[in-house]
Amino acid sequence: MLESYIEKIDLLSEAECLDIIEEHKNASWGKHRWRQNAVDTTFEQDHDPSVLEMDPKWGHLVFKKLEAPLRKYFDDRGQDFLVKSLSVPRFNKYVDGQTMDWHVDHIHSLFDGNLKGIPILSINTLLNDDYAGGEFCFNLDGKEVVYTLSAGQSLIWPSVFLYPHHVRPVTKGERQAFITWGF
Ligand SMILES: [Fe+2]
Repeated sequence: MLESYIEKIDLLSEAECLDIIEEHKNASWGKHRWRQNAVDTTFEQDHDPSVLEMDPKWGHLVFKKLEAPLRKYFDDRGQDFLVKSLSVPRFNKYVDGQTMDWHVDHIHSLFDGNLKGIPILSINTLLNDDYAGGEFCFNLDGKEVVYTLSAGQSLIWPSVFLYPHHVRPVTKGERQAFITWGF
């Protein structure tokens, strides 16, 4: 049941992935910070990935390409199209043992300004697959399930607490992906 709301789609071509990586290579990457809602605090850890907001030029391409698959996602499940907007895609770059700890996507930081809503769908797109480790896993009803993507593929899932997920440590090479939230 939980698995049926996780969908894998083909979003970008290999050439688009390479262009996106190349064009953001020399940008000023920051460090991922995450928030523990229970204690209302944000944290930063050495093993967390580097992050960067996607340039709007590429962001618009991603939004355009996502529209039909997102409509289909809701159609296929007999739901209205619930997503009004998508957040600016954010890269996560993992090297040398970097990892993303278990978490759920109850993202508050999107809504600390003028934006109003709640995260409804998480869309995570892998840009390269020439690395080792770095497996993307959900905890579904207490069972860890690995989802393997190829470069250019996206995973779509509901951004709720039923879908804890993590990225295992990257052991070789560099793993690049980007996330956008539908709200
Ligand atoms: Fe996440």
